[in-house]
Amino acid sequence: MKEISIISASIRPDRKSHRVALYFEKYLEATNFSNTHMLDLQEFNFPLFDNTLADQKNPSANLLDFAETIKLSDGIIIVTPEYNGGYPASLKNVIDVLYQEWRHKPIAIVTVSSGPFGGSQALVALQFTLWKIMAWTIPAMFSVPNVSEQYDEQGIPADKQATDKLAYEFLDQLMWSMEADMEPTKNAVM
Ligand SMILES: Cc1cc2nc3c(=O)[nH]c(=O)nc-3n(C[C@H](O)[C@H](O)[C@H](O)COP(=O)(O)O)c2cc1C
Repeated sequence: MKEISIISASIRPDRKSHRVALYFEKYLEATNFSNTHMLDLQEFNFPLFDNTLADQKNPSANLLDFAETIKLSDGIIIVTPEYNGGYPASLKNVIDVLYQEWRHKPIAIVTVSSGPFGGSQALVALQFTLWKIMAWTIPAMFSVPNVSEQYDEQGIPADKQATDKLAYEFLDQLMWSMEADMEPTKNAVM
């Protein structure tokens, strides 16, 4: 059984992108393909980054738990809103606090906005950061415009059939990355 974590990045009280995180959680649970872990940054309520986990003397149990879940995950889905053309500080906070845990980690990015563009600028910003930290972002996109019209509070999409089809194609690429051998080949020409 594979381990997949979903990071729900918005910590706003009235957040809407969490609906999409709930959708993916339900979708994966229905497939029986993976153990699914919801990493809800609103629940974790992490303090503002001031040091990487490796350099913290007394890391919180919360942070150790988060780091361990990232480490054991075969793949990660990040559901992020777009804020001012980027991704939220809550997400940067948890990316920067870890390092080795992200290395070669297959990551699928879901972007969400209330407007018509589906968070396309947040996608670019987040991909760059994840590339710098040597995570492995899949090339497929799953962008959700007009989120309030498309998903209800329980994460049920307005058009389930079409959404499930898109999710299948999107997750298929994540699964491929999860099966791939991400360690550098021993036969590489140096
Ligand atoms: C501080 C802030 C900045 C935002 N900037 C953008 C933006 O640049 N582009 C966009 O399409 N939506 C923007 N939005 C709207 C979000 O897309 C909207 O809140 C959506 O529901 C996803 O965020 P949420 O999960 O926090 O609700 C912004 C919202 C906030 C709170």
